[in-house]
Amino acid sequence: MQEFSFSTRIFFGEGALERLRRVKGRRVLIVTDRFMVQIGTIDKVMTYLTGCEVSIFDGVIPDPPIEVVAEGVKALAACQAEIVIAVGGGSTIDAAKAIRAIAKQTLCAEADHMECFAVPTTSGTGSEVTDYAVITDNARGLKYPLDSQALRPPVAILEPSLTASAPASVTADAGMDVLTHALEAYVSTNANDFSDAMCEKAVSLVFRFLPLAYQDGEDLLARTEMQNAACMAGLAFNSAGLGINHGLAHAVGGKFHIAHGRINAMLLPKVLAFNANLSHVVGGEYSLAAKKYQRIARIMDFPAATVRLGVANLISEIERLNQMMQIPPTLRAWGADLSKVREMRGELARAALADATYATNPRRATEEEAAVLIDQITG
Ligand SMILES: NC(=O)c1ccc[n+]([C@@H]2O[C@H](COP(=O)([O-])OP(=O)(O)OC[C@H]3O[C@@H](n4cnc5c(N)ncnc54)[C@H](O)[C@@H]3O)[C@@H](O)[C@H]2O)c1
Ligand SMILES: [Fe+2]
Repeated sequence: MQEFSFSTRIFFGEGALERLRRVKGRRVLIVTDRFMVQIGTIDKVMTYLTGCEVSIFDGVIPDPPIEVVAEGVKALAACQAEIVIAVGGGSTIDAAKAIRAIAKQTLCAEADHMECFAVPTTSGTGSEVTDYAVITDNARGLKYPLDSQALRPPVAILEPSLTASAPASVTADAGMDVLTHALEAYVSTNANDFSDAMCEKAVSLVFRFLPLAYQDGEDLLARTEMQNAACMAGLAFNSAGLGINHGLAHAVGGKFHIAHGRINAMLLPKVLAFNANLSHVVGGEYSLAAKKYQRIARIMDFPAATVRLGVANLISEIERLNQMMQIPPTLRAWGADLSKVREMRGELARAALADATYATNPRRATEEEAAVLIDQITG
C-alpha cells in the first residue's frame, strides 16, 4: 500500500499572500532569517497580518543547526503564538517545522493546536508540503532529515514575487534541487502513478523555466512556474521518496558546507549513470531506471530513440544546465580541501548509505560504489 496525500492547502500565484488576511487578530510568530528582514520581505508579509500580535524570530541560518531550533522554541514559548509563519527558503521552513514539532511536545497543551503556514522565498526544497525537516548537527558534521507527517505544514503560500529577490546562484542551486527531487522520485522504488505525474511536470517546468529565472530574476512567469515545479517535486518525493543522490549530498554537503542544491547538482549526472547501469543488460532488458530516464528524455524532446541515447542525452542536458548556471562540476572546482575529501571518502560513503533517503534508491550500492561516486565529483 502506498500513499499520496495533498493535505497541505496550497495557495499559489500572484496575490497568494492575500490568504494571510484570514489570520486576523491572532498571535503569530514569524520564523525567518535576518536577510529577509533587511530586504523588506517581512514588512511586506506583515501588511497582510492585520490586527495580529506579531513576534519575529529571525535567527535562522542556512542548514539550520539544532541550536537554532532550540532558540526558536524559546521564542515561541515567550510569545505564546497560535500560528507559526515560516518566511524564507528551505532552511527557514525546515527550522519552523522543527520548532513547531518540538514546542508541541514540550510546551503547554495549547501548543497542540498551533498552526503552521509555509511561505517559501526560494523555489527548491518543496519543504512547504513535505514531512521532512533537515537539521544539521554541527558537532558531528552531519545533516539528518526528521521525518513525520506531523511536520507537514497545513498551509503553503506560494507567492512568486517573494522569490524575485533571490540571487542567481540561489536560484540555480534551489532549481537543481527541484530537478534532483523529481528525477530521484521518478525512479525510486516507491515511485507510483501519482508521483510520476508530478515528476514529469516538474522536470519539464525546470528545463523550460529555470534558465529564464536564472537569467532574469524579475521574470515573474519563470518564477511562478519554478515555484510550482518545486512544490510538485516536493509532493512527488513526499510520496515516492528520494535516493542516493540526496544521501551523498547530505553526507558531503554537511561535512564541507556546500549549498544543498549545488552538491545535488554536481552529483546528479553521475548518479543517473550509476542508476541507469547501462553495462548491465539482463535478457536484452535495461534497468527500469534507465527506461524511465529514456521516457523523461522523450517527454523533453531530447533525442531518445534508444534507452542508451535517452539516458546519455538526459545526462548531457543536465550537465549543460549546470554549466550554463556556473555550477562547478567538481569539488575541486568548488574549492574543497581535496586531501580531506579523499581521506574521508569511506566515512562519507557510509554516511550516505545510512541516510534515510537512500532506502528508495533503485540500485543498491556497495560502500565502494558510493565512494566511487564521490571520487567522480572530486576532480
Ligand atoms: N524539508 C525538505 O523536504 C527538504 C528538501 C530538500 C532540502 N532541504 C533543506 O533545505 C535547505 C536548503 O534550502 P534552500 O535551497 O531553499 O536555501 P536556504 O533556505 O538555505 O537559503 C539560502 C540562502 O538564500 C537566501 N534567500 C532565500 N530566499 C531569498 C530571496 N527570496 N531573496 C534573497 N535571498 C534569499 C537565504 O537568506 C539564504 O542565505 C537545506 O538545509 C536542505 O538540506 C529540505
Ligand atoms: Fe533536496
